[in-house]
Amino acid sequence: MVSGFAVSKHEKGRESRAATDLVLAHPVLVRRLGKEEALARIPALSDVLINCVHGGASVSFMAPLSRERADAFWRSVAEDVAAGGRALLVAEDGPGGEIVGTVQLVLAQPENQPHRADVSKMLVRRSARRRGIGAALMRAVEDAARQAAKTLLVLDTASDEAERLYARSGWARVGAVPGYALLPDGRPCDTVYYYKQIG
Ligand SMILES: CC(C)(COP(=O)(O)OP(=O)(O)OC[C@H]1O[C@@H](n2cnc3c(N)ncnc32)[C@H](O)[C@@H]1OP(=O)(O)O)[C@@H](O)C(=O)NCCC(=O)NCCS
Repeated sequence: MVSGFAVSKHEKGRESRAATDLVLAHPVLVRRLGKEEALARIPALSDVLINCVHGGASVSFMAPLSRERADAFWRSVAEDVAAGGRALLVAEDGPGGEIVGTVQLVLAQPENQPHRADVSKMLVRRSARRRGIGAALMRAVEDAARQAAKTLLVLDTASDEAERLYARSGWARVGAVPGYALLPDGRPCDTVYYYKQIG
């Protein structure tokens, strides 16, 4: 629906050295989905979400995460995409290929924060990690924010891997809230807030 963002040549070069359990058939492409495409890709989006939650990611859901619950979540995301409340981006193994990662940009904010958006549900399936897909999703979501005239982005995370990604991407660490949420197995975890000013 909107322009794609390929993983950079540099990252592709490093990808070949990192290949272990997943062979990507094509350069990974990041693009934005509209409502209809989002609805059509729900099974694949749920695959990624379930894969991440069952891998221990604290992203709002407890384990085990059922297919029904995951599908219902993506249906609500598709509705919000249609309403203009958020943007949904996916990283695909080539155009229309397997979805290996996804991220959202929550555009709808209170009327006194029209310049702000939240980055949410940054997910890369476990077998596709450490190939630069998270970094490509980050660049694409920031670009989508600029296109929407957003100048301040905020996110929170309970993942050390994600913290390193955000720091590398130029985000500023605000601080940790102890015991903010639960990990999928029920153990409490802290969450760390980050922000980035973009222009
Ligand atoms: C956080 C997350 C999105 C990162 O995705 P990713 O695709 O692995 O991210 P990247 O590949 O860009 O970077 C990850 C690491 O791989 C390294 N890397 C990137 N490309 C590489 C390549 N071609 N070869 C070797 N290493 C590479 C990066 O330097 C980085 O290293 P570091 O963690 O030691 O600093 C992923 O771990 C994830 O989905 N986690 C679970 C869900 C979650 O918690 N999301 C955050 C919610 S806010």
